[in-house]
Amino acid sequence: MGEIRKRVLSPLVYGPALSAVGIYLLRRYMQGGQFTKKTNETGRVAIVTGCNTGIGKETVLELARRGATIYMACRDMQKCEQARKEIVEATKNPNVFARELDLCSMESIRKFAAGFKKEQKKLHILINNAGVMDCPKMLTTDGFEMQIGVNHMGHFLLTLLLLDVLKNSAPSRIVVLSSIAHRFGSINQDDLNSEESYDRKQAYCQSKLANIMFTRELSKRLRGTRVTVNALHPGVVNTELFRNTFFLRTKLGKLLIAPIIWIFIKTVRSGAQTTLYVALDPILKEVSGQYFSDCRPKRVGSAALDDDAAKFLWTESEKWTGAHL
Ligand SMILES: *[C@@H]1O[C@H](CO)[C@@H](O)[C@H](O)[C@H]1NC(C)=O
Repeated sequence: MGEIRKRVLSPLVYGPALSAVGIYLLRRYMQGGQFTKKTNETGRVAIVTGCNTGIGKETVLELARRGATIYMACRDMQKCEQARKEIVEATKNPNVFARELDLCSMESIRKFAAGFKKEQKKLHILINNAGVMDCPKMLTTDGFEMQIGVNHMGHFLLTLLLLDVLKNSAPSRIVVLSSIAHRFGSINQDDLNSEESYDRKQAYCQSKLANIMFTRELSKRLRGTRVTVNALHPGVVNTELFRNTFFLRTKLGKLLIAPIIWIFIKTVRSGAQTTLYVALDPILKEVSGQYFSDCRPKRVGSAALDDDAAKFLWTESEKWTGAHL
């Protein structure tokens, strides 16, 4: 009797149990590499853009735990101050500051950089984390299409304005958050600003490709300075970046997508790991111009190897922002 019951029951029990274990392992795998090395960042100064939420906030939290002095550079000062308070509370690190930076405005970027330099003589880590994704056609204050404007041009200007402090503080690091989406991008040399036609996905991919080209070109120009610059793909992370994706805003969309997100999408904590690895791991002290994902070096998409397009982008970026190196 018992024997029969066991035989009937076992597939019913083991099936789901095995699936559960399988799903759990798959989920763990999907979370990607974790940066577990202990480092002491006391006395090191960092700037993180766009960090009142998501992986930016998580990055600041971990930098604060490790003792760094951190400038949170955000557009929404109320949210920034709220996040800062939470981080100071959680880490007991008082050296976390909230400062206004609107990457849509070159005036704001210049003001932020000047203000920072008045407060600090050193900058060891600049993390270009802020980003917009998949937004309807919008322009920045200076008339740049929003995605190339914020994701690339704003950070281009910010980085160039801070290069003198970075050089004075060497060894120092610039970390550029790109995305695997760069693989689907191309630099539209006839219409970089999407004035003739706008495709929100294409504009996003173009901006993420621009992040990688900027990283590679800047690393060449910084040779011998002991300032490194590397790009990364944080993984597909459940953050507010998806705020513009229509389907995920509906109730049904949220319900259907929840289990898939749980399995396949990184937590915010996992999403910050490659940033922390690239910013902090002593092993990468002299590594520059590279691209990482899941705490490992990765090859860039072939579009990112087009050095002519990269030169075009660099020249345009200088023209648009008025910043030169
Ligand atoms: C980190 O280094 C500072 C001095 O540089 C030291 O005072 C502090 O105790 C260190 N923290 C840890 C956790 O080792």
